[in-house]
Amino acid sequence: MYRPLKIHATARAVPPRVLTNADIEAMVDTTDKWIRERTGIRERHIAAADVSTSDLAAEALVKACAAADLDPASLDTIIVATSTADTLFPSTACWLQHKLGVRGPAAFDVSAGCSGFLYGLEVAAALLQNRGPDIRIAVIGAEVMSKVVDWTDRSTCVLFGDGAGAAILGPGDGTTGLLGSAWGADGTLAPVLYQPAGGTRMPASQESVAAMAHTVHMEGNLVFKHAVTAMSEAAIQAMARAGLSPDDVTLLIPHQANTRIMEAARARTGVPADRMLSIVERYGNMSAATIPVALDEAREHGRIHPGDILVLTAFGTGFTWAAAALRW
Ligand code: ACO
Repeated sequence: MYRPLKIHATARAVPPRVLTNADIEAMVDTTDKWIRERTGIRERHIAAADVSTSDLAAEALVKACAAADLDPASLDTIIVATSTADTLFPSTACWLQHKLGVRGPAAFDVSAGCSGFLYGLEVAAALLQNRGPDIRIAVIGAEVMSKVVDWTDRSTCVLFGDGAGAAILGPGDGTTGLLGSAWGADGTLAPVLYQPAGGTRMPASQESVAAMAHTVHMEGNLVFKHAVTAMSEAAIQAMARAGLSPDDVTLLIPHQANTRIMEAARARTGVPADRMLSIVERYGNMSAATIPVALDEAREHGRIHPGDILVLTAFGTGFTWAAAALRW
């Protein structure tokens, strides 16, 4: 199951504007206390009106390439994981190339909701096999959730934030890599969390816009239950395939949806509480961007060292789930 892989660099990009719970109190019938107790979120970053997902993705990629001393045009592949694509076509990855003036690397999006970055990692790990030591692949999780949220719906608008995280992957020298992984999906539950309008099923129309059908529709309680089960089971499966016990894990990075979901999932994995990374308080749920942003913060703050064992696990719309056990 071991696949050699090295993360050469990580980077993040978040919009400068911060929206606090107090700000949201002035917009809908909610309180800072309710939001903190039910979600653990205090604030989130919100993109300006003229900023789209590819802008944040491009900024994160440029920073990651600079850190890896790499020209973006020399990448083999650019994978953008997102649920908030710039347009239905072409892909956000191609819009990113358009913005950076990059020609050449294969570019495509992965649509797997909050599991998207780990889906991208799995695809990149497969692509990296036997392609030579110099191949580099960028996996980016990027979202502008604020533009698909109904800001009059208190049950969803408090949850989300905007941001992007990028990782530059290469095959490595065999000391680092993907020790074990797991992924899956259950499309029978697709209507539990989705954006009804704007695609071919319900093209944008005056009626769809009036009904706010282009915003997040979600059965929160059902998402909660499935997220806990799927994130913990995927992590346990990835650890088992890697031959790891919970005590071997240096750092657990779950998808940052909600402190209660993350804590319940962690408890089921058996990984000690002080080894779970949580950034949700300051960012909210950035969907596919939460894991790469958390990874970049962990690296920047010296929480990851060579040889460390990382377990990443996620759950999202679809439903989808994925987990990866990595040796750094
Ligand atoms: N402020 C105040 N009250 C609120 C708010 C709010 N922002 N939102 C809902 N309420 C009210 C509800 O109306 C309800 O009132 P009622 O009892 O009078 O009917 C009450 O709070 C309880 O509502 P619940 O939905 O039962 O609250 P719960 O404790 O389940 O928390 C939450 C809701 C936070 C949405 C939770 O279900 C959750 O986090 N679900 C997961 C959603 C998620 O993370 N989705 C993101 C995408 S998927 C992913 O990332 C994994």
